[in-house]
Formats: sequence, C-alpha cells, structure tokens
Amino acid sequence: MSKKAIGIDIGGTGIKGALVDLKRGRLLSERIRYATPEGGTPKAIAATLRDLIKQLPQTDGLPVGICFPAVVSHGVTMSAANVSKEWIGLDADKLFEKELNRTVHVLNDADAAGLAEAKFGAAKDKRGLIIMATLGTGIGTALINNGKLIPNSELGHLEIDGVDYESMASFAAKERDQLSFDAWAKRLQKYFSRLEALFTPDLFIVGGGVSKEHEQFLPKLKLRTPIVPAENRNSAGILGAAHWARKNSVD
Ligand code: BGC
Repeated sequence: MSKKAIGIDIGGTGIKGALVDLKRGRLLSERIRYATPEGGTPKAIAATLRDLIKQLPQTDGLPVGICFPAVVSHGVTMSAANVSKEWIGLDADKLFEKELNRTVHVLNDADAAGLAEAKFGAAKDKRGLIIMATLGTGIGTALINNGKLIPNSELGHLEIDGVDYESMASFAAKERDQLSFDAWAKRLQKYFSRLEALFTPDLFIVGGGVSKEHEQFLPKLKLRTPIVPAENRNSAGILGAAHWARKNSVD
C-alpha cells in the first residue's frame, strides 16, 4: 500500500497543499500556497486546487485529503466560515472528485489538526481522550479518543456567560480587544476549565499560529489536565488531511 497522499488546507485567505509521506508524517514536496479566490465559491476553489496539484511532483493516482473551516459530515460541508454560502449542504467530496478526477475526502480543519497531532505530534501513541483546540480567527476543536477521531465537535461555540465563547477566547478576540497575554489567559482559563469539567480529558493540545508563543500563556493556566502546544504548526492541516484521505481510501 502506498503511504503517500496529497494534503490540502483551505482557509479564508489562503489555500496550502503538499505531497505527504504518511509513514513519517513529513512533507515530500514544498508547501504550495495560493490566495483563496475572491468569494470562495466551490467552483473557483476547485479550479485553484487543480492548479495547486499540478505543481506537486509524482501525484498519479494518489488520493487527496482536504480540510476546510466548516462542519463536514460524510463529505458534505454543512456550514461555511469566511467562504461562499454555496458550501452549505454541498457534497464537497463529490464535487472535488469530479473536478480533480481523483479520490477526495474532506474534513473539518480542526479535526485535521487534531489527527496530525494524534498520528505525528504531541499525542502520538497516546491513549485516552485528547482535546485539541486551535486558537485563530475562531476556535476549532478536535476530540480524539484512543487515537480515533470523533468528528465535528465544534466546542469553540461552547456557550459560557451567555455568549458563544469563541467570540471571547479566540486569538482574533485577543487582537480585537487588544488583550495582554495575562488578560487573554483569564478567558482561556474559563474556557479550558469548562471543557475539563464537561469531558475530563487526558490531554489538551493547543494549536493555531499563536501556539508558537505558548510560553506566554499556557503556564498561566491552572488545570488538572496537562496542556501542551501542538507540534505540527504550519503543516498540521495538510498532514491531518492527507492522513484522513489515505485512511478512508481503499487501495
Ligand atoms: C468553525 C469550525 C472551525 C473553526 C476553526 C469555527 O468558527 O465553526 O468549524 O473548525 O472555526 O476554523
């Protein structure tokens, strides 16, 4: 069985992709980046993916995993954040398979980042319940139990103090409200304490661009559960998506 796949990470501003070695959890090509087309329609994004895949070496017959900032149920995108509303209710697996002429599996972006950590990062070979939270424009979450993903947890939208807490504790909220790391950590404390009370996880993993500054905020959190930064930073989505594609494809 070939241990390679193409991983693609679609975001509101950029689309990144690479060829992935799934045995070692490493990129086998450069990371290619395109701007997300204006409007983010399914057709325009599919055309960008076609161009992107053409830039990658030796991709014949390889499946494609794509992560996307939306709830994705069995390949159907159920929501759309920062992209066209045409994605809502769309069979994205089917559309991309037709447009790219290969096997395609789409999943939520935080789920991909969580899988990357479970297979190749901070949660490699760990048993028990792991909650990954990506702190970016929103808060994405992934639940991984004994190495298996429970998809679409969407715990960034947990309601605390009557508000969708993503709007208080995401990295975008820190920027918007010009919070110091100390002030932001108070909100993160509330958020992670609530997750801890509800799920009793064995490990929290924190991802998103700001996780490279983890020393500024993770030590300020008082939790029973260990909390660590993600190991796969810029390529987490690509690695997790590629893993998902291979896992769901029959050779
Ligand atoms: C969305 C999630 C996504 C997360 C990170 C949230 O607003 O609801 O589906 O995983 O942002 O992009």
